Amino acid sequence: MIYVNESKQHFSLQTANTSYVFCVDGEGLLRHLYWGSKIENTEELEYEVLCEVSTNDPVHEITPEEFPVYGGLLYKQHCLKAKFQNGDRGIFYQYEGYTQEQNTLTIHLKDKYRNLLIDLEYKCFEEYDLLERKVTITNNTDETITLEQLQTGQFHIKKTGLKFSNVHGHWGAEQNRFEQEVSYGKILIECRRGISTHNHNPYFILHDSANEDAGDVYFGALRMSGNFRGVIEQTPYGETLVQLGLNSHDFNAILKPSEKMESPSIICGYSNGFAAMSHNLHSYARKTIMKPTRKMVLYNSWEATEFKVTCDHQIELAKKAAKLGAELFVLDDGWFGQRDSIENGLGDWYINEEKFPNGLNPLIDVVKENGMKFGIWIEPEMVNPLSDLYKQHPEWIYHFDKVISDTSRGQYVLNITLPEVKSYILNMIEDLLTKHDIAYIKWDANRPISQSSSDKQIWHNHILAVYDIVAKAKEKFPDVIFEACASGGGRIDYGALTYFDDFWTSDNTDAFDRLTIQESYSYIYPIKAMRAWVTDCPNFLSKRYIPLRFRFHSAMMGTLGIGSNILKISEEEETIYKDMIAQYKEIAHIVQEGDFYRLKPISQNKYYAYQYVFENESLLYVFLPQTLIGHNKARILLKGLSPKTTYKVSYQDVVIEKSGEYLMNFGIQILLSGDYASEIVKINAVYSIENN
Ligand code: DGJ
Repeated sequence: MIYVNESKQHFSLQTANTSYVFCVDGEGLLRHLYWGSKIENTEELEYEVLCEVSTNDPVHEITPEEFPVYGGLLYKQHCLKAKFQNGDRGIFYQYEGYTQEQNTLTIHLKDKYRNLLIDLEYKCFEEYDLLERKVTITNNTDETITLEQLQTGQFHIKKTGLKFSNVHGHWGAEQNRFEQEVSYGKILIECRRGISTHNHNPYFILHDSANEDAGDVYFGALRMSGNFRGVIEQTPYGETLVQLGLNSHDFNAILKPSEKMESPSIICGYSNGFAAMSHNLHSYARKTIMKPTRKMVLYNSWEATEFKVTCDHQIELAKKAAKLGAELFVLDDGWFGQRDSIENGLGDWYINEEKFPNGLNPLIDVVKENGMKFGIWIEPEMVNPLSDLYKQHPEWIYHFDKVISDTSRGQYVLNITLPEVKSYILNMIEDLLTKHDIAYIKWDANRPISQSSSDKQIWHNHILAVYDIVAKAKEKFPDVIFEACASGGGRIDYGALTYFDDFWTSDNTDAFDRLTIQESYSYIYPIKAMRAWVTDCPNFLSKRYIPLRFRFHSAMMGTLGIGSNILKISEEEETIYKDMIAQYKEIAHIVQEGDFYRLKPISQNKYYAYQYVFENESLLYVFLPQTLIGHNKARILLKGLSPKTTYKVSYQDVVIEKSGEYLMNFGIQILLSGDYASEIVKINAVYSIENN
């Protein structure tokens, strides 16, 4: 709910358990008042009349503004910096009023000297305890204005000594969660590569000694892929500031008269503990962004064949995949142009006749006859120098006129901000989807942008063009599912999730490494979008041998895929594949729609434990990477059950009936032995005292 006290110019955004409050102060500045646990009567919150700390610490510097802008006596991080035609660079806004439409509040600010409008929009998602905020800048002057910096907003937390967490990593090792103390000086996370990054992720989590169940947690995730920047800072004036938005590195945006620019939005919230943060974000993603349908079990041929794809071999794989229980067959890289390695083919999206002499349809027919849907891989933003497309249009890549452009993975990035390039890609996708019965597109992007052309706007416009192509293709083919992949998990963010349906989490398919990758991912992103495959051993990256059961259990934590060479598996393995895939289909609704809990066993901390709760059903996944000698069982306290309900708990040879109260306080005791041991415990409500 949004409450406005017009006379006091006081604005409260109330969700089920939180409040976010700001007002217009005596100086006409939009002043932040509160963010945290719910306060019913937020009008008790009043702004303090501030005096400068000293002439060197002017009042602006200590005023907690919702949207500080560059200009005047303000030296801290600002959200907006503009350059006017005469060289002026300062903005001095005044409050002009507000508009409210259901759950959306827009605050209108205007520069005192020029007709430059700043509209701050706040959307309130009451049931998910979340807000979504963004800003739109409109140039109503008759001059061209250059925006040199645009951050979505400023967050104020009236606390010091907080901990900041995000992820670091690189290809094959994404999603390494780290935590560091916020102190004096700035923490900066960013992407400067255009094509998102494995190095950091566009979100912030700040907390005050929180754990999964309790403690103040403030978080925000940017709804945008590509170049972002997050700055976190503890000020000398006793608060912690966060800004998140577009990266101002090599950035500007030109606004001609009557043009506007919208910032990406931030989905943000306050929660008591990390589990509530994840549940709120996951539910919001599932219910407001993602399709409601269950994700299919897929087979992808990449690890089995790499570029050596042929129609006959793919048909063999497809028949076997269907026999094992797969529902979707995805043909990965290598089916088009002269694509026999990374060096050629990208850009030439015609079917390779040597590999598919009668086109793709003979394969698609077999896939469909066997009850599966068909999916295909493309990397539309890229071109190889050896391709026909590059020979015809060398000017289509990002380049500087007098500089030799860099290749990376043997390819260039197409300047898809050019209308002709964008149409070429959209036409290629529409043509592919018109001529073939395709249900799934895996959209890959395997290198960052370089030699970015003379136009600094391309970093942001590139990603907007990607979104636009996917949106337009979906308009015509609304049932087609798009997977976002960028050398594995390089394009995991809420911007991508708005247009794409699935994330390829990582090229690292080692089932043990995946536990931590998946756990870190789960803090912010929904399990339902997390693709995870069972692949062969030794794993191509880690060289580890891991039993098939553990590999399945690890991949069954997300949306299950099979990526192994299934034509080479033994009869015994085939039985396991069939059983596990069948089991997954029975529990998929709990995994994909349930609340996800990261558990810590209270004894035996070498065990990894995760729980899902969906209505009356729950699952506990337990993993032990290295055997422990002895008979000490791991004791794991379950979460999210209803205390007075009796549950049937089945695992190994044990079947017990216990109350939710018992399971959440005494817990389950389980002993795994052998390296890479794993188990899925099923927990089903049998009756509830509350209902009797
Ligand atoms: C990188 C992706 O992450 C892989 O899954 C695979 O699609 C290759 N590209 C194909 O080139």
